[in-house]
Amino acid sequence: HNLCAVCLNLHLVCGITWLNSLSFSPLSTVNEYVFMVQARGIQIRENVKNIGAQVLEQVVRGAYSINGTDYSYDFNVSESDDPPTTYLPEGFTYLSSQICPERLPSMKGRLEVNMSEISLEEVERSLLEGEPRMAQGGYWKPKDCLPRWKVAILVPFRNRHEHLPILLRHLVPVLQKQRLQFAFYFIEQGGTEPFNRAMLFNVGYKEAMKDLDWDCLIFHDVDHLMENDRNYYGCTDMPRHFAVKLDKYSYMLPYNEFFGGVSGLTVKQFKKINGFPNAFWGWGGEDDDLWNRVRYANYTVSRPHGEQGRYMSIPHHHRGEVQFLGRYSLLRHSKERQKVDGLNNLNYSPIVSRRPLYTNITVSLSRKLAPVADY
Ligand SMILES: *[C@@H]1O[C@H](CO)[C@@H](O)[C@H](O)[C@H]1NC(C)=O
Ligand SMILES: *[C@@H]1O[C@H](CO)[C@@H](O)[C@H](O)[C@H]1NC(C)=O
Ligand SMILES: *[C@@H]1O[C@H](CO)[C@@H](O)[C@H](O)[C@H]1NC(C)=O
Ligand SMILES: *[C@@H]1O[C@H](CO)[C@@H](O)[C@H](O)[C@H]1NC(C)=O
Ligand SMILES: *[C@@H]1O[C@H](CO)[C@@H](O)[C@H](O)[C@H]1NC(C)=O
Repeated sequence: HNLCAVCLNLHLVCGITWLNSLSFSPLSTVNEYVFMVQARGIQIRENVKNIGAQVLEQVVRGAYSINGTDYSYDFNVSESDDPPTTYLPEGFTYLSSQICPERLPSMKGRLEVNMSEISLEEVERSLLEGEPRMAQGGYWKPKDCLPRWKVAILVPFRNRHEHLPILLRHLVPVLQKQRLQFAFYFIEQGGTEPFNRAMLFNVGYKEAMKDLDWDCLIFHDVDHLMENDRNYYGCTDMPRHFAVKLDKYSYMLPYNEFFGGVSGLTVKQFKKINGFPNAFWGWGGEDDDLWNRVRYANYTVSRPHGEQGRYMSIPHHHRGEVQFLGRYSLLRHSKERQKVDGLNNLNYSPIVSRRPLYTNITVSLSRKLAPVADY
């Protein structure tokens, strides 16, 4: 993520003049800093609303474009309240020949989040016991109505095996309550190259489409746990950013163009933007590039309202994963790169296997698998 904007923003909000250098420091430092700010009782949220917007605009403009003219920004950081609840009443019945409603009575809102570790076998056992109709790969579809969306949940990771069962235990029952057809694809990066989250998503997409004609793709970080089951994981006519409010960012959007954590596009939208970029090695920046791609394709981004977009993240450190320092220069050329780097220049050789709750795609990545002119 574009943490540079986050910390510069906080920096100015607090009126402390120390941290141009922090823009390239590790995440833990930023978190500690956020913590410190909270501890001082400073009302970050209010400040961001009042003075953050202009500051942020300058910072992000600076980061993306030399003259700030190649992209128009909408720095509307105001929050809208929950729309009036129009969830169907308890006991509402629908026919199995009808499309599943989007606002089911089973979607109650606030969810408990359990982050304690659990073995994969135990999660497999308990989820299959509760719902024996789950098939290999975590494939499921409702039987009391016709699913509105066929959703492939794509989750890239490396060195985080203990997070997978926590995510599955949390998310599978929610998706069932939301009456979506779904399956999980975990895409693990092998080899020694820096982590390439975006390229793993492209690989996951290509592999998932070999299974079924999914029409909606959810790009999900393994450590993100939603706090509200009304955060509906279907797609919309515009690309959607689901993870709006994270505990680690004090439940506020770090900057308006933030597109990290959990996002979703229809297959049609994803093809139109040529997928994710492959050129982001190390963490940071690829979600900002996706945002640019979406905007250049004339889409706007939709987000869940208010409390629905809340998430908790499983605490961890970027274990040995390096930050991608070249991201700002790449981001200046998002537009030119979009046509030549993405789904259309991607080669890879995956190892695919099925588990009861997910498909395991293991893939070694290197730069020569996605050749791109050096922007
Ligand atoms: C930025 O603006 C200057 C003068 O306004 C212009 O000469 C230059 O070509 C611009 N650069 C880009 C990348 O648009
Ligand atoms: C900002 O967003 C709010 C809520 O979505 C909307 O009511 C308001 O008109 C927007 N303001 C601008 C300047 O776009
Ligand atoms: C959370 O998960 C652990 C491990 O499975 C379990 O022992 C514990 O009871 C759970 N906590 C809650 C509040 O459900
Ligand atoms: C986006 O809209 C602009 C202006 O209407 C148009 O010129 C451009 O071709 C559109 N781009 C795409 C990718 O549809
Ligand atoms: C996926 O499969 C590979 C072998 O191809 C194995 O080493 C790895 O542990 C598996 N990962 C998961 C999450 O099941």
